[in-house]
Amino acid sequence: MRDTLITGIDTLLTMDPSVGEGPLGVLHDVSVHVDGSEITWIGPASDAPSARETIDGTGCIALPGLVDCHTHAVWAGSRADEFEKRLAGASYTSILEGGGGILSTVRASRAASEEQLAAGCASRLARMRARGVGTVEVKSGYGLEPAAELKLIQAARRAGKLTGVRVFPTFLGAHAIPPDWRSDREGYVEQVIEDQLPIVAQYASFIDVYVDDGAFTVEEGERILRAGMACGLKPRVHAEQIAYTGAAAMAARLGALSADHLERLDDAGVAAMAASGTIAGLLPGAMLYLRDTPPPVAKLREAGVPLAIATDLNPGSSPVDDLWACATLACLTMGLTVEEALRGITCVAADALGQPDLGRLRVGSPGPVVLVRPPPSEAPHPAVLVQHFGCPRIEAVVG
Ligand code: NIG
Ligand code: FE
Repeated sequence: MRDTLITGIDTLLTMDPSVGEGPLGVLHDVSVHVDGSEITWIGPASDAPSARETIDGTGCIALPGLVDCHTHAVWAGSRADEFEKRLAGASYTSILEGGGGILSTVRASRAASEEQLAAGCASRLARMRARGVGTVEVKSGYGLEPAAELKLIQAARRAGKLTGVRVFPTFLGAHAIPPDWRSDREGYVEQVIEDQLPIVAQYASFIDVYVDDGAFTVEEGERILRAGMACGLKPRVHAEQIAYTGAAAMAARLGALSADHLERLDDAGVAAMAASGTIAGLLPGAMLYLRDTPPPVAKLREAGVPLAIATDLNPGSSPVDDLWACATLACLTMGLTVEEALRGITCVAADALGQPDLGRLRVGSPGPVVLVRPPPSEAPHPAVLVQHFGCPRIEAVVG
């Protein structure tokens, strides 16, 4: 067990406004003790307990382990050809309709073993952990049949164990209609509910549906989510990405923890999310790769909808595993403030997973603690974490 004292941290972002200054809950000149994977002490360096290992935090910024609350981090195969097609003008939806996109990843993932999928996912999670990410939500959705969906969820769980990343698996059997079910959508919805859900439910935390043009309708999505909720899974929704469908309002009606993407969100959807406390999951990687316009962030902010940021890591619309880069993009392309971005990849993302103990640095909360050394000539000011693109200079990830 690691027993570590990080001493003399210049700027500690607790992400808890009740214990420190401002929305980031800032404390200065403190030490933090981490025992195993738990934060056991925070206070002035002079009172710090002794520990087996000491890390010098002088001149550094510390913050809680980051939370990536929307990923598709378990898959096999490559979509490099699709990237080139999209650069040449093909649309995401036309590629999917032609049997590519998500469906090409489905073919490769069905053909892969659980071991191969776990190894691929673990290498992605290890990269994320090295950048300070402690918790990752991982969706299935590249199996689209009972055994393959289960295999993906089990692989994601194994990858979490292999890397020490806390994985929350999400069942996404409603990610695309498989080609052999195109003439019988209703039959596929029934398969998701009656054959896939019962075997994966005990291994997943959440249920998600992709409601969009070329994917599922609001009515189909709602049926599937309600069936998942009856099995104890909490709902979350891919909403208003390519086409406006009313999925965000449906998510709010079901009490979903988050509705994500939201590029086409309307005022009624904003109001519904605000009323139900549904968090907005902002995915600037997908917005960038699909060369899309931003979601209505000013309206969400004004309505009091909390803003989480995630990578949406997947092989097609967001081959991006760097959550820090997404925080920077959320500021530059969506108009978030530095404080919103830093809360969006920590405490708000934790809330989007229904985990209020995560994404905050408090005594008793689980690790890791992330120690960042500012780039040369920069002071340990929170803004440098977001200002320098995808380049947080991690000194240590403890716990
Ligand atoms: O969140 N929009 C749908 N699903 C994913 C894309 C997955 C893929 O392209 O493989 C997303 O962007
Ligand atoms: Fe997604």
